[in-house]
Amino acid sequence: MAQENNIQASAPTPDIGPVAEHRHEKLAFPEGFLWGTATAAYQVEGNNEHSDWWQWEKDNPTRVRARSGLAVDHYHRYEEDLNMAAELNTKLYRFSIEWARIMPHENAIDRHELEHYGNMLRACRVRGIKTMVTLHHFSLPQWVAEKGGWEWPGAARAFRDYARIVAAEYAGQVDYWLTINEPMVIVSQGYLTAVWPPAKKNYLSAYAVYRHLIAAHKEAYKAIHEAAAKRGITVLVGAANNLISLSTYNRHRFADRWYSWLMDKVWNHAFIDATAGCHDFLGVNYYFHQRIDPGKKRIMGVIVDIREEQRDMSDIGWEVFPAGLFDALLDFSNYKLPIIITENGIATRNEDRRARYIVSYIKELYHAIAAGIDVRGYCYWSLLDNFEWEKGFSASFGLIEVKQPSLERSFKPSAKVYAQIAKENGIPHELLRFVGHEAKL
Ligand code: NOJ
Repeated sequence: MAQENNIQASAPTPDIGPVAEHRHEKLAFPEGFLWGTATAAYQVEGNNEHSDWWQWEKDNPTRVRARSGLAVDHYHRYEEDLNMAAELNTKLYRFSIEWARIMPHENAIDRHELEHYGNMLRACRVRGIKTMVTLHHFSLPQWVAEKGGWEWPGAARAFRDYARIVAAEYAGQVDYWLTINEPMVIVSQGYLTAVWPPAKKNYLSAYAVYRHLIAAHKEAYKAIHEAAAKRGITVLVGAANNLISLSTYNRHRFADRWYSWLMDKVWNHAFIDATAGCHDFLGVNYYFHQRIDPGKKRIMGVIVDIREEQRDMSDIGWEVFPAGLFDALLDFSNYKLPIIITENGIATRNEDRRARYIVSYIKELYHAIAAGIDVRGYCYWSLLDNFEWEKGFSASFGLIEVKQPSLERSFKPSAKVYAQIAKENGIPHELLRFVGHEAKL
């Protein structure tokens, strides 16, 4: 015992300055921070029969696990769903307008559908929920797809015309506009990995699509601002970017560093840099962390397959890595624009895991804000279980469970955790027990 004390006394004490005490206090967020949820039209509405995905599902039954069909019939049940969003204490709802509903055919505008989304905006407003509207969330009108989709040189102009129509219709009713959801995912899923329509593996097409998406964002950004200016109001317009937190596998190897730098430039920054000046805020969809190692047998040649490492993962094999959110936000803070987390969430049927996910990721967000990063809001993906593209209904992202085929809704247990955070505008100390693996006292 005496010997132990001696060892302690002689150990050098590094000077690391004052260390914050562990306090049993809430991790409080800035006043007015927006807690929200997100969905996308094609994934929840049902019967989007004028969209390219509808045709794709029909023509490629083996490439999708299920047809979207009625999805979760949000088109008819949005009032009930918004009641539940309000019960969760959320004050922001991100949803998308289905382009193919507004313009089912070239040069045709469907007034009835314009009214439908107008009703949704009003339904949010009366419940005290702010709105964030995405104009393009992966699905295109079939007539646009038939002309070549985003590869068609006229696509950006067509998108601008659509943006002009909806911006004029809803001026003053939308709090945040998002032009395009995850432009780089559109390029990669449709033209590189080719798992989504039009499933073309072609670098030249991918590059053309990338350029047209840039043009489309700029055109729509201008069109939305012009429509607002005509009414003498101002609007906030951005895009939702999928960010990957990238690390090297071995930071002493030049090749690892070079590939991870390149991937960061291309995936995380190229679109924003090419559309500089056309973002009033930055939308961040955060799900992924990847380690880069161009050495051995890797996914796509460079991505380390973490299944070998036995880490905590979602049902669809995505790594749970909360610190990556901090890294991604730190990286994006260099643009000196306000940031909103437009998506973050987990596909799991294990409610303890979802609760842990929510608390741990939001805790990283808390630290990011404490580090001076200007984050204004957070949308959990998703309000409801929904149609997860080629995975059909197998991925369970929702805070609300939707039974198939009855479509009956009910809160999942983890929804209570999110509702409490939203209500208290922070993480109450007792919820910090969810940080860590299966912590139980
Ligand atoms: C991002 C996409 O925007 C959304 O459509 C998708 O469902 C979620 N990620 C989960 O994969």
